[in-house]
Parts: sequence; C-alpha cells; structure tokens
Amino acid sequence: MTDLASADYFTDQALAQNPFEYFDALREQNPVYREPHHNVVVVTGHPEVIEAFKNSEALSAVNAIGGPFPPLPFEPEGDDITEQINAHRHLFPIAEHMVVMDPPEHAIARSLLARLLTPKRLKENEEYIWKLADAQIDEFIDNGHCEFLGEYAKPFATLAITDLLGVPESERPEFRRILAAREHVQHAVGALDHTPVAVNPLEYLDEKFKGYLAERRRDPQNDILSGLATAAYPDGATPDLMDVVRPATFLFAAGQETVTKLLSSALRVLGDRPEYEKMLREDRSLIKPFLEESLRFDSPTKVDFRLARTTTTIGDVEIKAGTIVMLCLAGANRDPRKFENPNEFRLDRKNLHDHVAFGRGLHTCAGAPLARVEGRVTLNRLLDRMQDFQISEVSHGPVGDRSYRYDPSFLLRGLSELNIEFTPAS
Ligand code: HEM
Repeated sequence: MTDLASADYFTDQALAQNPFEYFDALREQNPVYREPHHNVVVVTGHPEVIEAFKNSEALSAVNAIGGPFPPLPFEPEGDDITEQINAHRHLFPIAEHMVVMDPPEHAIARSLLARLLTPKRLKENEEYIWKLADAQIDEFIDNGHCEFLGEYAKPFATLAITDLLGVPESERPEFRRILAAREHVQHAVGALDHTPVAVNPLEYLDEKFKGYLAERRRDPQNDILSGLATAAYPDGATPDLMDVVRPATFLFAAGQETVTKLLSSALRVLGDRPEYEKMLREDRSLIKPFLEESLRFDSPTKVDFRLARTTTTIGDVEIKAGTIVMLCLAGANRDPRKFENPNEFRLDRKNLHDHVAFGRGLHTCAGAPLARVEGRVTLNRLLDRMQDFQISEVSHGPVGDRSYRYDPSFLLRGLSELNIEFTPAS
C-alpha cells in the first residue's frame, strides 16, 4: 500500500485486477485528484462524479471512451477550447457515435434512438429475452457445467440486441458468430496496452445496417428496421442514412460487454455467497435489489472521461480548460461518504439505487432498462433451471481461496471467465 496514489492506473496490471484500493487512496488525498503520469484529474467521490456529469456546459464528452489515449490532437490554449475541440472532433475515437457528442448534435442523435427504444418495443423485446435465456441454457444444461461468459452471457447479450433492432432471424447466427465469439476483442476497449477502441466490429455492423436500412428506405415493410429507416428528426427532416445507422450499431458496442460483465459479476456473488442463492430462490423479488447492488459493487463501466472545454471547478478543485478528467464510477460507487461499509455486498441498503453505474446527465445510459431486464430474466431462469450451482474449484480454487481474473482494461471491469458447475432442475 506504499504510496498507491502515485501508481499508473493506465498501465498497472495489478490495478486492473483490483482498482478499489487505488480509488480509495486517491479519494483520501482528495475526491478530485491529479494523477502524476498522464496529467489526468481523477474523480473518485460520489457527489463530485455527479457534479461533473451534470456540468456538460464546461465538460465535453468528446474523449468519453479513450481519456488520455490517444493524446489530445492539439495543444489547449486559454480558458475556452471549444473551437479547438470542434476543429479536431473528427480525430477522437468513435467520433461518429453519440456517446462522444456534445449539444446540440448529441440531442439530435439521441432523438433517433428514442424512436427505437419505445415502451412497446422494449416489452416485445423482453418476451423474446425470456425465450432466448432458455435457448441459451438448453445449449449446455445437460453438461452440468459451463464457462458462463462464452456459453451464456456473450451470445445472450448480442442476440438480445439483434432482436431489439429487428435483425432478421436468419441472420442472427452470423451476428452471434462474429460479435460474440470467444476470441473477439475481449480486451479491445480500454486495453492496458492502449490499442485503440474496437473499431472493426463496428465497421462490420455499419455495413450490415447500411444495407438493411437503405433497402427499407427504398421498400418499407412492416418491421422494426423500416421504422428506424423512416425515422425523422423532431423537426420533420429526414436524417442522412449513416445518421440512422450509427445509433443502431452503437447499441452493440454499448450493450454487449457491459451486460456480459454485469451478468457474470452477479453470478459470481451468488456462487460465492450461497446464503444469497437461498434468499433469491425463496423470494424472487430480491433479484432486483441484488442486481442494483451488483452494479454498485462491481460497476461494469469502471471509468468514463470528459475534457474540460472551459475552465471550471469540480468539488473544491479548479479544472483548467484542456484538462482530461476521469470520472470513476466504480470509485464513486464505493465512496464511504455515500455508501456505509462500501466494500460489503448488502441488499438492505436504503440508498441502493443511488449508484452511478449507468452515468448521469445528458449521456445517461440509454440501455439501462434493457440491461436490467437481461439481468432479471437471466437470474430467474438460472435459478429455475438449476437446482444448485457452485463456482468450479478446479478453475477458481476452493471456497475462501478463490482466484478470479478480470479483463486487463482501464475502462471496463469484468471477469475474463467464470466456470460454474450445477445440477439441472428435473
Ligand atoms: C450493465 C450494463 C450497462 C452499463 C453498466 C452501461 C453504462 C453506461 C454508461 C456509464 C454510459 C454513459 C457514458 C457517458 O456518460 O460517457 C452509457 C451510455 C450509453 N449506453 Fe449503456 N450501459 C449498459 C448497457 C447498455 C445497453 C444494454 C445498451 C443498449 C443496448 C446501452 C446503450 C447505451 C447508449 C446508447 C449510451 C450513450 C448514451 C448517450 O450518449 O446519450 N447500454 N452506458
């Protein structure tokens, strides 16, 4: 623990395995603290992270995904770098996606997504997700064991989105093969070797959706893709084709790895804490708080970034224009000023829903309702279909001396694999 606050968060493998003591060490210095290696201001306090999320006037989302990588494509000058950001925006990773856009472009892009994520569509999608969970479990239930990420969580998260977007049934196996393959860029996002964010899968998706949507613009049918293809902006104008393609394809980038990480971390807790398995079996209404506490305890999006557009403050710290700010969702969610005994997993927290795992403000996760449905359905069906389950001792060691590996990413937190054993329900 000697001088943990001076470690390099962006390269240190040990911190990728366990970032929590590092976040604590920084918070003890100041919940808004400048780390020494990449000149990034790190925000680990719960109220400070919320303050920063809500200050979209001064804090741009242009670097939300990469933070200090790649380095800024310009030398910031003065107390307002809005023009510099705008002139170089296209050089930032995934510049064409809404998560890195600022007002007014962001609201325009998000309005097209709202057209897709209607309550009716989400309800139909939930019906599919129940069936999907069973189909996925059918693939391995007779084996009595599985590697949960590869055999369940990844294909499940991918196929849930194909259905949400109305990808034709006949093409879904191809999406699964390409996007949920085990070898597929597990660590591409926020990798510690600083490879750029995963671009290739998004290019594949852009091509696919460009094809679907162009065809439906020419020849609209009574399907979801046609609804998206003919979506108009709030003022009635027709978007360029790629402006409709992007919100659709981004759902895969946003909703696959994150959901996989939520499902596997929740299942790990259940496997390691049989008392929770018992409680959830006896009272399924506890699944909802269990998932919220999983989101707080092991936040899948560990950190998120902003770039100070104008000189501003967060907490009591001045942030000069041009400063890269790292918002530690996983740190805020373990801030002892907000959550009592934050390193304990507890279902009886009164403020269980106050975690910031889905962000806050303009860019609040658009897929949070879907992620929660995926979690609720998965835990319900696993409990239904398995009489009992255990963490595999061969893979992860005995009770009390477990070993788990987390993806070596500075951005996301999640297990690299989770092997379980179970008795199928009769
Ligand atoms: C447990 C799972 C998930 C977590 C932890 C999560 C987390 C987040 C966070 C923290 C943000 C805010 C990023 C920022 O402010 O810079 C975000 C944005 C977003 N998420 Fe999620 N997400 C999850 C699942 C999903 C799913 C399933 C979808 C859709 C299929 C989705 C779609 C989006 C979109 C479209 C945005 C961008 C919103 C915007 O820029 O306005 N997410 N997510």
